[in-house]
Amino acid sequence: MSFEEMWRDLAPVGRSAQSGGYFRQPFTAAERECHAWFVEQATSRGLDVQTDRAGNTVAWWGTPPTHAGTGAVLTGSHLDSVLDGGGYDGPLGVVSALAAVDALRERGFSPGRPIGVGVFVEEEGSRFGLACLGSRLATGAIGWEQAAALCDPDGVRFDEAVAGAGLASVPAGLRWDAILDRIGCFVELHVEQGRDLVDRDAAIGVASRIWPHGRYRFDFAGEANHAGTTRMEDRHDPMLTYAMTALAANKQARLAGARATFGRIEVGPNGTNAVPSSVRAWLDARADSTERLDAMVDTVGRMASERARRDGTTVAVTAESVSGAVEFPSDLAGSIVEAGGGRWPVIPTMAGHDAGILAAAGVPTAMLFVRNPTGVSHSPAEHAEMADCLAGVEALARTLERLAS
Ligand code: HGY
Ligand code: MN
Ligand code: MN
Repeated sequence: MSFEEMWRDLAPVGRSAQSGGYFRQPFTAAERECHAWFVEQATSRGLDVQTDRAGNTVAWWGTPPTHAGTGAVLTGSHLDSVLDGGGYDGPLGVVSALAAVDALRERGFSPGRPIGVGVFVEEEGSRFGLACLGSRLATGAIGWEQAAALCDPDGVRFDEAVAGAGLASVPAGLRWDAILDRIGCFVELHVEQGRDLVDRDAAIGVASRIWPHGRYRFDFAGEANHAGTTRMEDRHDPMLTYAMTALAANKQARLAGARATFGRIEVGPNGTNAVPSSVRAWLDARADSTERLDAMVDTVGRMASERARRDGTTVAVTAESVSGAVEFPSDLAGSIVEAGGGRWPVIPTMAGHDAGILAAAGVPTAMLFVRNPTGVSHSPAEHAEMADCLAGVEALARTLERLAS
């Protein structure tokens, strides 16, 4: 099946008829359908499919790595999406990997080491809050017990969701603790989530680094009261404290050349005619260094506390998921650029990826980016032209050929 056919197959899965965006949260029907589709595609290619207890899956071309010196080449990405996300963030890397394997086979390439096409679960943290949960579990960055207890917004635990997807009864064929040191490198292809490649007039790029980033929960508490009878000066309104904090975060990010976003809030009790008693809001913050990130988040937290004192409210800040800066090995990136004839620019990204988690675990890791004509991502408008997607497949095939020779 060609790249175009595979892309057409996946296109309707989890797509909203209203917005055209995707809802592929982990262990929901849509995301499971994507996984089943992946297993079917891998099996039809004669690849050896292994799954771990969390649902991370690898399809091996060649014998799964058996000893420390195997130096297997892992590629792939994720199939889950943010809420109302685009179709490319994640699946492009998975479908391109299958198509790259096909291309290499057609050329008669015979890998000198196993090539694995991997799919990591819950990359977006859109259900259980922790970004890259699957790859964190795979690398031991988080333990099973801690992950199992994470709850989605409806109170469903991660281990319950895994069991609900029927994974608890699947024997864990994929043991990351046994194979991590048998993986020589990981290469993730991803749609670009910015306009760097457009500005450089390049279809393909190679990653240099990932900005440090994190998610911080702000719990604002105040006093519920009547929206009509409570005088403005008598209120303890956590919404005001939150609103000022959102403005402060935006200003601090601009001043620091960083990023700060409040994209999710929960208001209690969420009634039109009541001063709220609570606001829970999540700050997504990113900066080009850990020092700048920490300083920005500290400043926003301090400004929120000062405002809370004036409003007669309280605020508590909890770091839910923090990822440090990732520098991808420059020799690996350089070798990939060379495989592309020296034409692919090396660019940083402000988005998080499973590649960052594997790199932090000591796996030599690289990323390929495919041009996104508008730069829009985490939105139904996310896009890549088919010609660029095919250029991505070719770039990944050349990369795998070089790395697995
Ligand atoms: O949120 C992120 O940076 C990503 O796209 N997972
Ligand atoms: Mn994403
Ligand atoms: Mn992604």
